[in-house]
Amino acid sequence: MSAPQSSLQPHVDSARYAKCVEVSKRIRWDIDRDVIRGRSFDFANRFLPDGLSKVDRLDFLTANDQRLLSQIQGRTYANMFGLVERFIAAKVLEVSREHWLGDQNALEALVRFGDEEIKHQELFRRIERMCAEGMPEGYTFVPEPNAVASAVLAKSTWAVLALTCHIELFVLAHYRESIDGDKNVSELWKDVFLHHWREESQHAILDEMEWVRENAKLAPEARDAAVDDLIALVGAVDGILQAQSAADTHYFVEICGRPMAAVEIEAVKATVLAAYRWQYIVSGVQIPRFGQLLNGMITPQQGERIGAALAPIMA
Ligand SMILES: [Fe+2]
Ligand SMILES: [Fe+2]
Repeated sequence: MSAPQSSLQPHVDSARYAKCVEVSKRIRWDIDRDVIRGRSFDFANRFLPDGLSKVDRLDFLTANDQRLLSQIQGRTYANMFGLVERFIAAKVLEVSREHWLGDQNALEALVRFGDEEIKHQELFRRIERMCAEGMPEGYTFVPEPNAVASAVLAKSTWAVLALTCHIELFVLAHYRESIDGDKNVSELWKDVFLHHWREESQHAILDEMEWVRENAKLAPEARDAAVDDLIALVGAVDGILQAQSAADTHYFVEICGRPMAAVEIEAVKATVLAAYRWQYIVSGVQIPRFGQLLNGMITPQQGERIGAALAPIMA
């Protein structure tokens, strides 16, 4: 039962929050019992599918080299979610405050959302340890979750919710379009992202509701500043992608077991950066639902500013 709302509060779609709670309870999974199930990774298979890793573009690499590069990218993919979930969980718990004495379905949905993101971070720390057991030493995940979260959370809530909505929509698209149907991907790796996708499906709905609610509260000047914040956040994500793609290329060259020509190393580095930009920025920007939501909130001029900032990344 939801509490009566004062006329000063924006409309809260209690039934939609309640539906997210219901599904969240029904599909709730446990890391060991449902996902890992005593298994370890089979390094004979790829991790990140070609549709995301783009390793099939590097035709001078052997099949073994391509598989290794997909495993390195798959390890980074898990670490990247562990990274962003640090600020997502914190922001969601912060936003839940607005429902403390309001709609109790909304409060429960957001508390469950936060709890699930804390569990996902634990899952991705497990995946990192399991990858480390089966791969040579020397891998580095460059960004530090708390430092990144502190910088992100210093930006306006509108911008953080926009970035979060974008991330959680591309999580769903990646699983549906690239991970689910790829027969060359490790069964355990696929299972991790199947379970992640199931809980993320509710998160994407909640992101949208909270982002729209936040948007309704903003005066035009505040929204204009928030657009600048979003542009800064996308620039910061791209900085992380540049550093991590360089680190992952270096690790690949060190462990691939054969000398590589400078021109080959450059091609690997450029392809890994293009793959990371596709995974973490471009694939999400191109999701129609994200574009509809964003364009429904901003002016054409603000849209042009965002487009100009994205242009070098999309190219
Ligand atoms: Fe998650
Ligand atoms: Fe999520």
